[in-house]
Amino acid sequence: MKGKFITFEGSEGCGKSTQSKMLFDYLKAKGLKVTYLREPGGVKASERIREILLDPKSRISPAAETLLYMAARAQVVEEIIKPALARGRIVVCDRFLDSTIAYQGYGLGIDIKLIKSIGNFATQGIKPGLTIFLDLPVKSGLIHRHNCRDRIEQRSVSYHEKVRRGYLALAKAEPRRIRIVKVEQDKRKTQSKIREIVNGL
Ligand code: TMP
Repeated sequence: MKGKFITFEGSEGCGKSTQSKMLFDYLKAKGLKVTYLREPGGVKASERIREILLDPKSRISPAAETLLYMAARAQVVEEIIKPALARGRIVVCDRFLDSTIAYQGYGLGIDIKLIKSIGNFATQGIKPGLTIFLDLPVKSGLIHRHNCRDRIEQRSVSYHEKVRRGYLALAKAEPRRIRIVKVEQDKRKTQSKIREIVNGL
């Protein structure tokens, strides 16, 4: 693959969407060819799967939930990510496979080896070269969302603590790829730390 694949990860309310879009705008302004996506989503079928996954009225088992995230991912990889990387573009993606390991693996207790193996199938072996993990204490993140929580956000604080610990374990295991960025009050400060890492590459 000629392109560069950058993903953003983090727990609820960490400002990941804002930060990833700010990075996208910055890279685009430099004249680079950049594709921006969010997961689950990015293409029609995956956005429809997203609606099912996040609807508080959906009844979904842990196994079905894991497979639906993977199905959404398989489609966006095939339709957008793989061709964009093959053309040498930079792909910035708001969440990817690490989310499933953190939320369904560490959070729900689905076997992590199994997630990695299904993940490898869904992503066709495509891995991010850089992952920015935006770290924020769970309670500070959830406060921002208390009015309109989706099916996953509605889960207990202890669930979200497990997700965060999962991310920290992943970052510890792959420190070169996964870079922890502490979320600052001032979003420009957080962004400048991210740009420093990206420019360093
Ligand atoms: P978002 O709020 O960052 O757009 O992500 C949607 C929700 O889906 C968020 O609560 C995290 C969750 N999620 C998983 O549980 N597993 C996954 O694999 C992905 C990509 C997201």
